Amino acid sequence: MKKVVLKKTAERKIKQFNQWIYKNEIKKYPPDIQKGEIVQAFTSSGQFAGIGYFNPLSKISLRILSFKREKDISSLIKRRIGEAFHRRKKLLENTTAFRVVHSEGDLLPGLIADYYDGYLSVQINTAGMENFRDAILQFLIEHIKPKGIYDKSDSKIRSIEGLETDNKPLYGEIPKKIVVNENSIYFTVYLQEGQKTGFYLDQRKNRQIVSQYVEKGFKVLDLFSNAGGFGIYCYKRGADFVKFVDVSPNAVKQLEENCHLNNLKNFEIVKEDAFDFLKKENQRYNIVIIDPPSFAKTKHEREGALRGFKYLIANSLKILEEKGYLAVFSCSFHVTMEDLINVSLSAAQDTGNILEIVEFMYQDLDHPILLNMPNTLYLKGILFQKL
Ligand SMILES: C[S@@+](CC[C@H](N)C(=O)[O-])C[C@H]1O[C@@H](n2cnc3c(N)ncnc32)[C@H](O)[C@@H]1O
Repeated sequence: MKKVVLKKTAERKIKQFNQWIYKNEIKKYPPDIQKGEIVQAFTSSGQFAGIGYFNPLSKISLRILSFKREKDISSLIKRRIGEAFHRRKKLLENTTAFRVVHSEGDLLPGLIADYYDGYLSVQINTAGMENFRDAILQFLIEHIKPKGIYDKSDSKIRSIEGLETDNKPLYGEIPKKIVVNENSIYFTVYLQEGQKTGFYLDQRKNRQIVSQYVEKGFKVLDLFSNAGGFGIYCYKRGADFVKFVDVSPNAVKQLEENCHLNNLKNFEIVKEDAFDFLKKENQRYNIVIIDPPSFAKTKHEREGALRGFKYLIANSLKILEEKGYLAVFSCSFHVTMEDLINVSLSAAQDTGNILEIVEFMYQDLDHPILLNMPNTLYLKGILFQKL
């Protein structure tokens, strides 16, 4: 097995069990290393630091799979998938859709697998994981016994890794549409056309939290609604009217079906840019949800993202009734909870509002947050009440 030697910064990270080592944190690696090859990492004083896979094409050149010596990486990966699935099993009491494997959060960097009512949507996003593709698929088939598996790997990430992408069924028959049941609310999932691996599973707990504040007669505005998760939960918990806003035609198509599936009678779907929509909206609401896509994929985009949030929060506060609730989410690691607090304070100040923080919210449990791996905490939200 080839060896790589780490610089001091990487040694400090490995001591904290951080799985990501950047190229500029590596002192030496063999020039003939293949993309995705399993390597052992050593400190400059020759101490063993960990075992992982290496890709010189990626900025994150080394992803650590274990901080102990391991003989059989294929068995390690299979064992971790099995453990991850076991930890999620109790979720099946309330939902037929959940994330089975969440990459670094399950110590399986580069691998994501989502379960949708018996079907699996899988992302193998790195060259290192690609080398274990057959073992992973075989284990998923034997252990989870899915009716089908669809490859939904991320072509952008894979191209950085020097990999081609071919999204297609890998096993069994994949229906065009799957219906999942989350807390007795129904959602359609299109494995082939849907965003992410098909559905925003990470917001499951937050859909429950926000909707528990609904009172009879409430009017709800679900901005960046996607398939309508937040708004539909609110309607089912007693809201009188929901307006959904999303710019994506696919999301709107799915949303129409979900409203029908859940028997919504009083709702409106607006296919528009949410920023433009807020410029002219003058109807008032008791709950506004802001759940935009990741505005800051890199730390350089953070400032722009915060300006976007300030606009969205300030304009939502203007159409929020007294005692109304505002839920704001960021799914970017680079926008911290403190950023969300500060930008909300600034928007509240500019619009003359006093806000109570009612709840802090995070991604649901099937998207584990590792203390040792800061990037695993990406979804943050705050529920405010306007006083
Ligand atoms: C993070 S997802 C929302 C997930 C959703 N709240 C849920 O729980 O399923 C962000 C959504 O914003 C939509 N979107 C992106 N840019 C937009 C824009 N400028 N205006 C309106 N919608 C937008 C995307 O189509 C996507 O559906």
